[in-house]
Amino acid sequence: MTLNIKKILKELTLEEKASLLSGADFWHTKAVERLAIPQIMVSDGPHGLRKNAEGSANPNEAIKAVCFPTACALACSFDRNLLTMMGKALGEECQAEKVSVILGPGCNIKRSPLCGRNFEYFSEDPYLAGEMAAAHIKGVQSKGVGTSLKHFAANNQENRRLTINERIDERTLREIYLAPFEIAVKQADPWTIMCSYNRINGYHSSQNKWLLTDVLRNDWGYSGLVMSDWGAVDDRVAGVKAGLDLEMPASFGKNDKLIVDAVNRGELSMEAVDKCTERVLRLTDKAEESRTPAKWDMEAHHELAAKIEAQCAVLLKNDDDILPLDRNEKICFIGEFAAKPRYQGGGSSHINSFKAVSALEAVKDYCKVEYAQGYITEEDRTVPELLEQAVDCAKYNDKVVIFAGLPESFESEGYDRTHMRMPDCQIELINEIYKVNKNIIVVLHNGSPVELPFIGNIKALLEMYLGGQGVGKATCELLFGDAAPCGRLAESWCMKLEDTPSYLNFPGVGDEVSYSEGVFVGYRYYDKKKMEVRFPFGFGLSYTKFEYSDLVISENEINEDQTLTVSCTVTNVGSRTGSEVVQLYVGDKESSVMRPVKELKGFEKITLKAGESRKVVFNLDKRAFAYYETAINDWFVEYGEFEIMVGASSRDIRLTGSVYVNGTAKLPVHFTFNSTVGDVLSCSEGKEVFGELIDKFCKGMTDMNGDGLGSNSMELALAMLKDTPMRGILCYDERPEINRVWLQEMLDRLNAMLEG
Ligand code: BGC
Repeated sequence: MTLNIKKILKELTLEEKASLLSGADFWHTKAVERLAIPQIMVSDGPHGLRKNAEGSANPNEAIKAVCFPTACALACSFDRNLLTMMGKALGEECQAEKVSVILGPGCNIKRSPLCGRNFEYFSEDPYLAGEMAAAHIKGVQSKGVGTSLKHFAANNQENRRLTINERIDERTLREIYLAPFEIAVKQADPWTIMCSYNRINGYHSSQNKWLLTDVLRNDWGYSGLVMSDWGAVDDRVAGVKAGLDLEMPASFGKNDKLIVDAVNRGELSMEAVDKCTERVLRLTDKAEESRTPAKWDMEAHHELAAKIEAQCAVLLKNDDDILPLDRNEKICFIGEFAAKPRYQGGGSSHINSFKAVSALEAVKDYCKVEYAQGYITEEDRTVPELLEQAVDCAKYNDKVVIFAGLPESFESEGYDRTHMRMPDCQIELINEIYKVNKNIIVVLHNGSPVELPFIGNIKALLEMYLGGQGVGKATCELLFGDAAPCGRLAESWCMKLEDTPSYLNFPGVGDEVSYSEGVFVGYRYYDKKKMEVRFPFGFGLSYTKFEYSDLVISENEINEDQTLTVSCTVTNVGSRTGSEVVQLYVGDKESSVMRPVKELKGFEKITLKAGESRKVVFNLDKRAFAYYETAINDWFVEYGEFEIMVGASSRDIRLTGSVYVNGTAKLPVHFTFNSTVGDVLSCSEGKEVFGELIDKFCKGMTDMNGDGLGSNSMELALAMLKDTPMRGILCYDERPEINRVWLQEMLDRLNAMLEG
């Protein structure tokens, strides 16, 4: 330890402590020279280093660096090792550039495809998002550099992001929006966490004690530092109380003074200030301790960026096996993105790439292609000459590769999309080319799904997402078969915007938005509603085929505290090497709460040579079966049968089996006069106390009426009684002793049995 934190805490004045709780400027913490406390530097993140150029007055002027694929692409790799590899490269860059914390990854859930910042996030699925974030963090931190897992929590839209109040029930928060953070915190222990701008159920995240202390620290055991997103602080004193350690960027002493005044007035405890100060000191110390001399090789990282992107791209369509291309064919590339790829998004994650290789440059290593620009990106307007040239070019070639997607202005940090359409000029281009050449391959560059009205007119679709500065090389490797496509969608592609689960509640009205779709986000929604989707979650083609066999589930029945092992064998039955993402989903066959049909609980990516087989093993623990039960403020497994599904996508399940899980926890029940007869009879104790009597009433009802209630008299009587409150049964019995006193005694007896 470089700093003697205990001693320093004693020596710091209140003013100095308060000063340590906010940034010195945009990218640094404060130093206290008197006590030799140094300042440390933080920088964006997440998919590259955006370090402020030395001496620059503009906080957005960054040094040259490498832009790796963005999170929307990375998650499609379903490859933990790949994310760790990228994290290590980022860590090396930060070490060399003396950056202590790189701001990322972001693991917010893609609630709507419209969120302008979806490209910076991993998935609609919390398990996948959490696993990817954890792998990224492990890589960076293995190099002695910290990460800042962001934006905690539920930052799912850009619209009014600093003031929006999200109404989200706790089960939904725990199962969907908090879960990726929980996974990453528990697995990878990020040095820091960045709170989000938005409000959740009335509280700004920067002053939400439930979020920052009760959940994050007490439930999950996090002991690192929480910093604010840039400008997310509303009430700094409330923030200190809630557990927000560091305000970023500088508040120029204004909020520090509020902290000092609040302590002096007795409104804020010195203990709370000390806790935050101690965490800032610990981070500073850790950063200083971890500093090592380092160098990094830009060209090598550029190559790595291309290599990673080749593992992320998703082949969504490949009719007639039109891909891979043959170098001897006559091929043309059409579209501005072929020459100037869109490979990253706008905003705080924007990297000053030292170079970017386009597909048009990269293709020179393969063959000669003709090129036509086809469209412009500055505005959505067809330029007749460009269109004509492109159609002409398409006529005389065997195959046409059209590079299309979203121009930068269509999606960015700071605002959301209002539709899912691609520019009309690009759609017109594709449809016009279709008239002269049916061998169309579309390569997409976009940060989030788009509607595909031209899908029937193209033979292949290769989704590159925003693939980083090596995207051109990766594209050519995939197009010509030097690399095999192995990405799988980390989000569902709906048919149209109106199908999306949050359609009626995005982005909300004024400063209020209701997450009324609950846990039914992404495929959880489309599956429950049996809806058609364009491409399902987990989907992606390859240049080979895989077969699944030998599902083995270690037990027929387990207790919730036992681990279940599931295995299967996957065989590459095609003729080339390829990688498969083996996905495991779990679904509760019968449940007393609404649950998704299936939820991803495991995935493994494997590479197999032609003809090769491998056994894939998954371990499932309690969380694979549990839902969050607010009645006990805990994860709860309802006993019963669960379906185990293993497959190649959420809609391509190849093997199924089941397991009976015994939950050990019981939900608290307390019956009153207003509990229904049905609820009381649903437990064995209730049946014991009231069963006979209720049975008698039912019989009485049918006897009274003969078959007057119909041929199903007994069933009907039961149905009517089932929803009757217990107080109602008093009217079914004329005996005077069957009265309210009697009923209370019986209910007390039942409640005592249940508690015992
Ligand atoms: C973004 C963060 C980013 C920070 C610093 C904020 O506007 O929301 O993700 O790390 O700026 O640039």
